[in-house]
Amino acid sequence: MIEVKNLTRYYGTRRAINNISFQIEKGEVVGFLGPNGAGKSTTMNIISCILPASSGSAKINGFDTFEQSLEIRKVIGYLPETPPLYSDMIVADYLNFAAAVRGVDAKRISFSVDRVIEKCSLKDVGRRIIGRLSKGYQQRVGLAQAMIHDPEILILDEPTIGLDPIQIIEIRKLIHELTAEHTIILSSHILPEITQICKRVIIINEGEIAAVDSLGGLAASLRKSERLSLTVRNSENNVAEQLNGLDQVISATNSEGNQYLIECALRSNLQDKIAKLALENNWGIVELKPVSMTLEDIFLKLTIEEKEPEK
Ligand SMILES: Nc1ncnc2c1ncn2[C@@H]1O[C@H](COP(=O)(O)OP(=O)(O)OP(=O)(O)O)[C@@H](O)[C@H]1O
Ligand SMILES: [Mg+2]
Repeated sequence: MIEVKNLTRYYGTRRAINNISFQIEKGEVVGFLGPNGAGKSTTMNIISCILPASSGSAKINGFDTFEQSLEIRKVIGYLPETPPLYSDMIVADYLNFAAAVRGVDAKRISFSVDRVIEKCSLKDVGRRIIGRLSKGYQQRVGLAQAMIHDPEILILDEPTIGLDPIQIIEIRKLIHELTAEHTIILSSHILPEITQICKRVIIINEGEIAAVDSLGGLAASLRKSERLSLTVRNSENNVAEQLNGLDQVISATNSEGNQYLIECALRSNLQDKIAKLALENNWGIVELKPVSMTLEDIFLKLTIEEKEPEK
């Protein structure tokens, strides 16, 4: 449905993205993740027909974003980094205007406005001036304008940036509801946001794709070892030393208090051996559990650790 091939974009002599390729199927919810300046907005602007690429192509349903942008605009709704709001307009009037601009049939405009007002919970502020709304409500209006023509695809560039924690939860909930009916690309540098909403993630770093995979797939392909966390009651008798004595333990360290982090070979099923050791030495197991790799670990591994040899 969305096909990006060898996309490159220069701003003057600065290369913002370099040779980016990926595909997104209908109904997918994909996270576009990368640090500041990685090229997320640039890529999204190209897919949304706001910006031409320097080379390469982006196609949606077979239509080229540069050559056939009219076709694409019908099926795409875009919430840019800075929502295109007119701060002195009344919410409902602005949405009427957005509907007309988006080519919604005149007879259906009022229905379309009511629909997005309902979906984005804007009923209470429909007659208010946009500029006087809270940032969270302004973001809802931004989402409402992106959805006004009921597009199949929603492209949302950092939709929760600058919001307070309560507003963040509300906007995430709204996006989550939208995942049932739309193909969504969502950019963020907030990692838990991506884990909560998306099934697949594209990690972009310094204008290049660092990884495209499902969350589980990413963790699995990067994982070269497993980690266990052990908490004991009595840690007087050389717990770390004895753990390090076990075959397959790569390292065991005291992380804090009576808690130990054990890094071991993949699929080594060490739990039984650790339990036996604990029993023999009277450590008193409080907890023994696997520690899964978070998206944060993966992200840092891909965007920081891989670059270290260059230093
Ligand atoms: N209009 C512009 N003129 C010149 N350089 C630009 C312009 N827009 C972006 N850039 C540069 O292109 C690169 C990618 O920027 P982009 O805004 O796409 O990144 P981003 O991943 O969206 O970052 P952020 O998380 O900060 O929003 C950066 O180095 C940025 O400085
Ligand atoms: Mg950006």
